[in-house]
Amino acid sequence: MAVRFDEKKNLFTLQTLDSTYQMKVDDHGVLLHTYYGAPADETDFSYLIGPEDRGFSGQPGDEKKDRTYSMDYYPLEYPVQGNGDFRVKALKAGFEGEVPALDLRFVSYELEKGKYSLPGLPALFEAEAGEVETLKITLKDRLEEIYVTLFYGVFEKKNVITRAASIENRSGKNVTLKRALSLGLDFMEGDMDLIHFYGKHAGERQFERRNLPHGITEISSSRGTSSHHHNPFVILCDKDTTEDFGNAYGVSFIYSGGFKIQMEKDQVDGIRLVCGLDDEEFLWKLAPGETFVTPEAALSYSEKGLTALSDQFQKAYHANLIRSPWKDKKRPTLVNNWEATYFGFDAEKLLKIAGEAADLGLDMLVLDDGWFGKRNDDRTSLGDWFVNEEKLKGGLKKLVDNVNSLGMKFGIWFEPEMISPESELYKKHPDWAVHIEGREPGQVRNQLVLDLSRREVIEYVYESVASILRQANIEYVKWDMNRPFTDIGSSELDADRQGEIMHRHTLAVYELQGRLLKEFPYLLLENCSSGGARFDPGMLYFSPQIWCSDDTDAIERLAIQESTALMYPLSVIGAHVSDCPNHTVGRVTPFKTRGIIAMAGTFGYELDVTKIPEEDRDMIASQVETYKKYCPLIQSGDYYRIASYQNNHYFDCYEIVSKDKKEAIFVFVQVIAQPNMHSI
Ligand code: GLA
Repeated sequence: MAVRFDEKKNLFTLQTLDSTYQMKVDDHGVLLHTYYGAPADETDFSYLIGPEDRGFSGQPGDEKKDRTYSMDYYPLEYPVQGNGDFRVKALKAGFEGEVPALDLRFVSYELEKGKYSLPGLPALFEAEAGEVETLKITLKDRLEEIYVTLFYGVFEKKNVITRAASIENRSGKNVTLKRALSLGLDFMEGDMDLIHFYGKHAGERQFERRNLPHGITEISSSRGTSSHHHNPFVILCDKDTTEDFGNAYGVSFIYSGGFKIQMEKDQVDGIRLVCGLDDEEFLWKLAPGETFVTPEAALSYSEKGLTALSDQFQKAYHANLIRSPWKDKKRPTLVNNWEATYFGFDAEKLLKIAGEAADLGLDMLVLDDGWFGKRNDDRTSLGDWFVNEEKLKGGLKKLVDNVNSLGMKFGIWFEPEMISPESELYKKHPDWAVHIEGREPGQVRNQLVLDLSRREVIEYVYESVASILRQANIEYVKWDMNRPFTDIGSSELDADRQGEIMHRHTLAVYELQGRLLKEFPYLLLENCSSGGARFDPGMLYFSPQIWCSDDTDAIERLAIQESTALMYPLSVIGAHVSDCPNHTVGRVTPFKTRGIIAMAGTFGYELDVTKIPEEDRDMIASQVETYKKYCPLIQSGDYYRIASYQNNHYFDCYEIVSKDKKEAIFVFVQVIAQPNMHSI
């Protein structure tokens, strides 16, 4: 049994192979968090709290005498606003118009075989019968009929524990959720380093490690996507934790919209981490009888350092989060026409590229942006999902048939969540754009976000994409999203529900992608968001690969891909060989090096194969062959970081080793030579 409840001690113990997690219901019915770390027995770890009268840390209403008992420093499992806890909270809820206040106490628990699911949300699932146990703990406000259920999915062999929460309003009045996060995690001692991944467009997921200071440190996105700027993943580890040694805790949020991860080092040098939905623009109305379910977060712990922690996340996400039938299959090697032609193509040009690519052994042509409406640049036509026959004479089906007859598969780009003010759709439905009534909305890349809190808009988007896919043999879709939310308002939604727009949008994206995959079950979906702004576990539930970054410079990619692989399997990292000088940074890198680096991901080309120098073109066939040969190893092997160019500024080195240790790929990239050094 991975989950046990000791009725005498009121102790929940969650065991995985290499970790133990413990909670205790104390004499007041408060759910304490007492332990998470190296495997331990069922000792009651609440003795570690060491109660003391901490100056001006108050007591809850039902405890007036014992001044050592305070929510202000006790380690709590799901901290809420309103009970005298002044640290960061997971939940701020209360009756409409009132200051949020709750005081949660234990009611009951349930233990189940298998994994709980979360309606409409991505979540880890049981891949092998018997590998997961679910624990649900229900708490209730001491006064009001407001219930909170905490969900735990214990993946014993994977060393992963998932968490989520639901908030149920059984009172007769409206409840407002000001913040509804997925988890709180309290550490009683807190001299820890934080590892996180910051970035920008064309420079996502840069590794940063620093000692966590007192006060609140926040990693978040309020852009409506998980974003280029931060990834919903952090690691807390000991100061001396290395790749192979030391405590490391990973927290990963399985969601594709805005998020918030806060860590607070408090007055007693403990650390609290809370993680969940972004709450900057969030205000959710919970009418009587309604329940709000948070997205899921996954926790993993290793006492053997960062490599083991990465491996645990990579393996769990591969096996228990990605559902696509493509996940263990060799992915088609592709040529994408974006950096080859941008908007300047026609059917003839595309067929020339496809023909040359077919001769070189590539499997698929991906037609990127610019094939619909009047889109010859990025100023128009998002929303007008009908084929531009001036560019593609004879229509899409004819092009796809011709590409197929060359022995190539065909894939296509969409940006379904958007609308250009200069489009047929906007002329007909200006109110379908997210906007604040009477205020002229700002623009990003000349476009606005569609209001997916409206059912008719969801239906329009679905039919737009599906009807194109029904027209021809399209086997791959690149689903893009190139704009953060601004001017957040909906002309349809009630005034007291406007704070729900961003979360409703993400739920609608999940619904749309889920429906699409139901109608086209073998579709290979690649998510993308102006490069890597939605490189998150939520997307992996729908697409087995995600475009990693618009920065296709191979050397820059070393850092981006390496940080990405701290949690995500290589099989999901969209990586292409692009032309030189590189379009983003202008660097010239040998074609061979570009090929090798793109192989640590889903391999493809993003250049005009008909135009590149002959000596480069001559290398493509053997690169494709090499990738196809090693694809199973890259997708399923164990990944080891050996040397990081980010740290040493001269070279990069990593290795991928098969399960049986009989086969390995060893990659060494000398970025710049060092004079008068030993050869390495
Ligand atoms: C985004 C994507 C690119 C490309 C363009 C097309 O920036 O990340 O790969 O598809 O959009 O407009």
